[in-house]
Amino acid sequence: MGWTAAQTPDQHGRTFLITGGNSGIGFEAARVLAEHSAEVILACRSADKAQQALETLRKYAPAARTSFLQLDLADLSSIKRAAQEAKERFKRSMSSSIMRV
Ligand SMILES: NC(=O)c1ccc[n+]([C@@H]2O[C@H](COP(=O)([O-])OP(=O)(O)OC[C@H]3O[C@@H](n4cnc5c(N)ncnc54)[C@H](OP(=O)(O)O)[C@@H]3O)[C@@H](O)[C@H]2O)c1
Repeated sequence: MGWTAAQTPDQHGRTFLITGGNSGIGFEAARVLAEHSAEVILACRSADKAQQALETLRKYAPAARTSFLQLDLADLSSIKRAAQEAKERFKRSMSSSIMRV
C-alpha cells in the first residue's frame, strides 16, 4: 500500500501558506496539515470563500491556527502586497510553503 495523508508526521511549529486553499487540492492540503497541527494560512482571492473554508477547516481541526491572506494570483500588485503582508504577519513562524503551480 502506498503513502496516505494519515501518515503525515506532526507539523507542530510549522506554518504553511496555501494558495488556492479554499477549495480542491489546496483545501485538502490545508485540511491535512491543520489536522497534523500545522499553522495554515489560506491565500485566496475571495474573502467570503476563504471564511467558509476556514469554518470548515475548524470543524476538522478545532485547535489549529488558521487564517486568511488576500491574494489574487492574476494581479501582480496583489501578489506584491500579499508577500509584504505575509512577511510582516508571519515572519517568525513561516518555514515552508505550498505554492500553486
Ligand atoms: N495550492 C494549490 O491549490 C495547488 C497546489 C499544487 C497544484 N495545484 C494545481 O491545481 C490543479 C488542481 O486544482 P483544483 O482541482 O484544486 O482546482 P482549481 O480550479 O485548479 O483551483 C481552485 C483554486 O484556485 C483558486 N484560484 C484560481 N485562480 C486564482 C487567482 N487568480 N488567485 C488566487 N486564487 C485563485 C480558486 O479560487 P476561487 O475559489 O476564488 O476560484 C480555488 O481556490 C492541478 O492541476 C495543480 O496543477 C494547486
